[in-house]
Amino acid sequence: STARLVMNPAFTVGPVRRRTFGSFVEHLGRCVYTGIYEPGHEKADEDGFRTDVLELVRELGVSTVRYPGGNFVSGYRWEDGVGPVDQRPQRLDLAWHSMEPNTVGTDEFMTWAGKAGIEPMMAVNLGTRGVQEALDVLEYCNVPGGSHWAEQRRANGADEPYRVKMWCLGNEMDGPWQIGHKTAEEYGRVAAETARAMRMIDPGLELVACGSSSRSMPTFGEWERTVLTEAYDQVDMISAHAYYWEKEAGLQEFLVSAEDMDRFIAAVAATADTVAAARKSDKVIGISFDEWNVWYQDRTPSKPPTGDDWPVAPRLLEDNYTVADAVVVGNLLISLLRHTDRVWSASQAQLVNVIAPIMAEPEGPVWKQTIFHPFALTAAHAKGDVLRVIIDGSTIDSAEFGPVQAVDAVATWDEAEGAIFLVNRHETDTVSVTIEVPAGCRLTEAVTLNHDDPRWQAGPDDDTTVVPRPNTSAALDGQTLTLELPAISWSMVRLS
Ligand code: AHR
Repeated sequence: STARLVMNPAFTVGPVRRRTFGSFVEHLGRCVYTGIYEPGHEKADEDGFRTDVLELVRELGVSTVRYPGGNFVSGYRWEDGVGPVDQRPQRLDLAWHSMEPNTVGTDEFMTWAGKAGIEPMMAVNLGTRGVQEALDVLEYCNVPGGSHWAEQRRANGADEPYRVKMWCLGNEMDGPWQIGHKTAEEYGRVAAETARAMRMIDPGLELVACGSSSRSMPTFGEWERTVLTEAYDQVDMISAHAYYWEKEAGLQEFLVSAEDMDRFIAAVAATADTVAAARKSDKVIGISFDEWNVWYQDRTPSKPPTGDDWPVAPRLLEDNYTVADAVVVGNLLISLLRHTDRVWSASQAQLVNVIAPIMAEPEGPVWKQTIFHPFALTAAHAKGDVLRVIIDGSTIDSAEFGPVQAVDAVATWDEAEGAIFLVNRHETDTVSVTIEVPAGCRLTEAVTLNHDDPRWQAGPDDDTTVVPRPNTSAALDGQTLTLELPAISWSMVRLS
């Protein structure tokens, strides 16, 4: 099989946004407790945060981190998580049928965010709560002093406000599983009123309304239209969430999952623009793709406890990723980057232990899942502007999407440097790729992640057998770059 690609710095989509490389920390399973936070661990710092996890977070290149949920936030009382730790109540977390000790709350998260060098993105509870509680937590976080909650924060040791810019107005309110689930009309009203009031405290906020929990939701499309009709003037972005996993249709179909993300983004953008047109508004609503990943939702690790069992930090959603999963994750990042004109923020769900690139064993080591690598390299080397890459090559016949290109790619260009990120999504065939690159470039690096067994998984004893390795087939002759992409592979080529 073959593919011909054109990379031209004139085909600019928009800037590479650091916020595309966001992640997500939810009070779920072992993401917080024995994930980012484990006071008894030998690598824990003076605040109880695992320094080995922090090192990997930095290496991953994460920009923003969404917190504290997720489904969790729709039953969360943020006040439980501030003030003297020994006076904080234990609460039932209904979303994950777990016990929440509240040892980590807003101040601890902000301390961790400072150490990790990330921008916090906060979510408010619009499930069991409403406008007032959203205002309270905003006041606690962003008001310098003088008012009740601002002074409480100062009394709790944080003299300076956190000045959190991005706020999610609830989480997945379209989902019947959500605590306090609402119709689009109900949610649209409360989102608009919460946003309007929050801006009275801090006009500069960037506010995200809940879009759909997936493109396959029965309310998809109509939900976005209704919510934005209510809240268009009050919000900046609408969210999108998408999880992919190999289903009965098989591996080949799973490998082209990014086609769904492309269509999802296009449909949400079109819906938002339809609302704008009807309102005669010039304002553009962005997309916050604030949950995306591979997640085997049908497998045992995703099933919460039941009955009288309310454990603290149980092992939940601890998916162990394959090489094929890493190729899909790399492709989802290609899709997000390609839509940088519309996707203004994104968060891979989640960061540690829970459907995560980073794993941390309690009282044990950290290790990297296969999906760590495409994320880390894309975050490190995507710079400057995103370029649309034109692709003409062998296709795959997808049952869901029809004929789709076997190779998918996006490029970035930053005056002196360029990078091109590619996947070969074909289950069995190597693809010989020819890329027309800008004149005067040098080939500085070409790496590929693949394995004879696409179901190979990393683990605590081995996370180095499959990592991106030099692709020795890559060669540059004038403006013609050639390289071989093995079946089920992710690659990065750098030029300067
Ligand atoms: O990321 C795991 C869960 O997936 C989140 O809590 C929820 O928002 C989504 O359904």
